[in-house]
Amino acid sequence: MALIGLGVSGGIGAYKAVESARGLQQAGHEVVAIMTASAHQLVGRVTFEAITQRRVITDQFEPGANADIEHIALASDMAALVVAPATANIIGKLALGIADDFLTSRYLATRAPVIIAPAMNTNMFEHEAVVENLAKLRGRGVHIVGPGEGYLACGWIGKGRLAEPADVVAATDAIVRPDATLTGRRLLVTAGPTYEDLDPVRYLGNRSSGRMGLAIAGEARRRGADVVLVLGPCTLEPPRGVEVVRVRSAAEMHAAVMTHASGTDVVVMAAAVADYTVAGGAEPQKIKKRTGDGALTLTLTRTDDILADLGRWRADRARPVLVGFAAETEDLLASAAGKLESKRVDLIVANDVSRPDGGFEVETNVAVLIDAHGATELPLQSKTELAGVILGRIADRLASTDTAALA
Ligand code: CTP
Repeated sequence: MALIGLGVSGGIGAYKAVESARGLQQAGHEVVAIMTASAHQLVGRVTFEAITQRRVITDQFEPGANADIEHIALASDMAALVVAPATANIIGKLALGIADDFLTSRYLATRAPVIIAPAMNTNMFEHEAVVENLAKLRGRGVHIVGPGEGYLACGWIGKGRLAEPADVVAATDAIVRPDATLTGRRLLVTAGPTYEDLDPVRYLGNRSSGRMGLAIAGEARRRGADVVLVLGPCTLEPPRGVEVVRVRSAAEMHAAVMTHASGTDVVVMAAAVADYTVAGGAEPQKIKKRTGDGALTLTLTRTDDILADLGRWRADRARPVLVGFAAETEDLLASAAGKLESKRVDLIVANDVSRPDGGFEVETNVAVLIDAHGATELPLQSKTELAGVILGRIADRLASTDTAALA
């Protein structure tokens, strides 16, 4: 069904890649194996060639590699690049953009989703360098499968064991299989912080990176939705295929959301909108420092609450489905449940932003979904995975209220 590039690097689990290749084929995919030089020390190319019925390429300067149309087309035709096992070495190269063989250059050349299954000794897996490299890859949207815990080839017991081939296949299949659950639906998603200018040089902002909202917009697009993304100041690249409306302040975001909300099926307010702005607006000139130790007092006024305004405007209608976020540092459930009611929305994604592995500026999130039926605690997962869970809930809600929406 899809063409999958299966990268095999030189981990002891390289032999398991044969099983992953088989599993991917059984799931209906075509597989091209791309081996690193060290993978050849562990498993023979003939095994992969016999199973995949395709030539294995390791080095981009290999005779034939540049004349072989199939391999040149690989970067554009590949539906996914899977690297299993991914050693600490290959993870480092991918993180740094080193392209010194066929696999690493394919990684840079492809725009297809990338899935890696790390496998190494526990100490290596926990080394700061590997932790940072994996965080970097996760931040670029690379999907990471495993590793598991157990007996390692080096005799240790711990984390670093290559994910089972069935898990690698399942993760890949879920990513490449066209998901049409949101086809024909129109989504408006907000992301990022807002900046309230004090003067031409300074602003009041917050620590939102925009990652969560971008992940929702990208996943919604992948599931077939038409997506408008209202994006606050954010340095990350928005996903392809979505219409981006750039804004800066809470007031600009309010205006953009209200303009685009009518006719949408869903609005997801993932942006961290400023609650206060500078009274009287920004100073036209740079504010000079006070002489002596005179303090500077800023007067701030409340911004309009976009989500609450949407809730009032939507009232008891079934559309758009309204989804808010609740960033909390204490009383997570009670505060989030309060927002569900006061803003009249259908779903609140609550997260404790004081956790080091959740909230702002990190790749992962731990969330609780709260709706009229109660609270569902979700495990620690990447923001892309969480986006999938949230969109699953949204798709269910849309399906169950379709009749009401037509009434
Ligand atoms: N929100 C909004 N407009 C604002 C402030 C917040 O639309 N002016 C939205 C956010 O996008 C989010 C939800 O409201 O989806 C909750 O935001 P949060 O900052 O957690 O709560 P606040 O309502 O601002 O309340 P507080 O800061 O007091 O917790």
